[in-house]
Amino acid sequence: MARVVIVSNRVPIPGQRGPRPGGLTVALGNALKGDGLWFGWSGDISASADTTVRRTESNGITYATIDLSQEDYNRFYVGFANSTLWPLLHFRLGLIDFKRDDLDGYFLVNRTLAAALVGELRPDDQVWIHDYHLIPLGAELRKLGVRNRLGFFLHVPFVPASLFVALPQGQTLLRACLAYDVIGFQTDEHQRDFLDAVKQMLGVEPNQNGFLETADCLSRSIANPAGIDARAFAAMASKAERSSDTRRLISSLVGRALAIGVDRLDYSKGLPNRFTAFGKLLQDFPEHQQNVSYLQIAAKSREDVSEYQSLRRELDRKAGNINGRYAEFDWVPLRYMTRPVSRSSIAGFFRKARIGLVTPLRDGMNLVAKEFVAAQDHNDPGVLILSRFAGAAEEMEEALIVNPYDPDEISYAMHQALIMSGEERQDRMERLRARVFTSTAEAYCRRFLTLLAAAPSRLNQSASKHNLA
Ligand code: ADP
Ligand code: F6P
Repeated sequence: MARVVIVSNRVPIPGQRGPRPGGLTVALGNALKGDGLWFGWSGDISASADTTVRRTESNGITYATIDLSQEDYNRFYVGFANSTLWPLLHFRLGLIDFKRDDLDGYFLVNRTLAAALVGELRPDDQVWIHDYHLIPLGAELRKLGVRNRLGFFLHVPFVPASLFVALPQGQTLLRACLAYDVIGFQTDEHQRDFLDAVKQMLGVEPNQNGFLETADCLSRSIANPAGIDARAFAAMASKAERSSDTRRLISSLVGRALAIGVDRLDYSKGLPNRFTAFGKLLQDFPEHQQNVSYLQIAAKSREDVSEYQSLRRELDRKAGNINGRYAEFDWVPLRYMTRPVSRSSIAGFFRKARIGLVTPLRDGMNLVAKEFVAAQDHNDPGVLILSRFAGAAEEMEEALIVNPYDPDEISYAMHQALIMSGEERQDRMERLRARVFTSTAEAYCRRFLTLLAAAPSRLNQSASKHNLA
């Protein structure tokens, strides 16, 4: 069997720091077995432009990384990836802060990564590249003569062509996608929007099966929803139920229902509206005052990007307002924390919650929704409140589906969840669980890699055909 090489901006190097929250590494946990390679940025910034590849071995897997210089980090990660592509791909054109210099930095880092990776590759490796940071990496590898099968998966949404067209050099990025043999999206909608953009902006007409054929390449686009290791998460939740953290949380609730949200502190996650909705619940349905506590765990993320700093200030203010208005001397309605919490404690908390709040304004998939479902106890399950704009909503219609832009709708869904009968909760949760335990991380990885292995070889194609210019 060909070796699998995963390439992503973040690499989960074993034993290095705490794990960083993020769906990508959760979904890919299963892709590498035995003799695999995971390549990307070390997460470190080096003083000079030192691109030495550092390697760590663990369980037969090699983790190979390079550092970024401060300038690369600013232009590539803080700049183009997270101040242009992230807002664009989450439908937030107004938040884009585009700079030509950042775009140059983005291409430069992709070129640097390609040059470092090429020396690590074996001729029959299957290379699977991930997410919006690395869109041009495949084309850069082709320029260096790499003929391996190359796959790409976009973990975030793709936007309609009418929005994508606003991206300076958007055509160049789209053309770079054609260097891949397989291009994967989380949902049918994202795949459709991508194909539409390719048609309108490159004049390439997809065939009925999502194949894009030009004079010099054949790329296949697919929708392939990312999942979690549901069995492992369920087992962790069941064990964590008896842990000291979960017991401390339960005793602090003194019989009140728990609503929980777990997200990176990111404007795509819809946290201000969620806080407003909780305030409205207490105002419009006063019977729930003193009877429910909402715990929001929001891991700090991308703190060097200014939009994330203003979001944090906004949430601090909103949390203060809600608690100032409704708290009693023995009840704090909203518990808002940005300190890290372990995955196992989160699993235990999910199992004990009556409501799981997952209300992003846009999300590629949202694996928290799947983790909440996997953690539930069949005998007394909670209710998932899910944004219709999370990719997960395509597969999870038995959740209470809400429009995250409407705090009244979220607040009404919370009320419904709090008064819902045990029978209805069980019925909805059983159906959700059936899907989460089938559409797993393993199924996601297996399907992508099977299609990649089946792609026609590019051995006979010439390097010059994949130039970005
Ligand atoms: P994203 O990739 O945009 O962060 P996902 O919901 O797909 O969104 O994945 C987030 C992953 O990170 C999940 O596995 C979740 O459990 C984890 N996570 C999110 N927030 C936290 C947090 N505050 N503490 C610990 N883990 C978190
Ligand atoms: O899942 C989306 C994603 O952007 C991943 O690519 C990324 O690793 C994760 O969120 C966390 O973001 P960051 O790497 O910027 O901390």
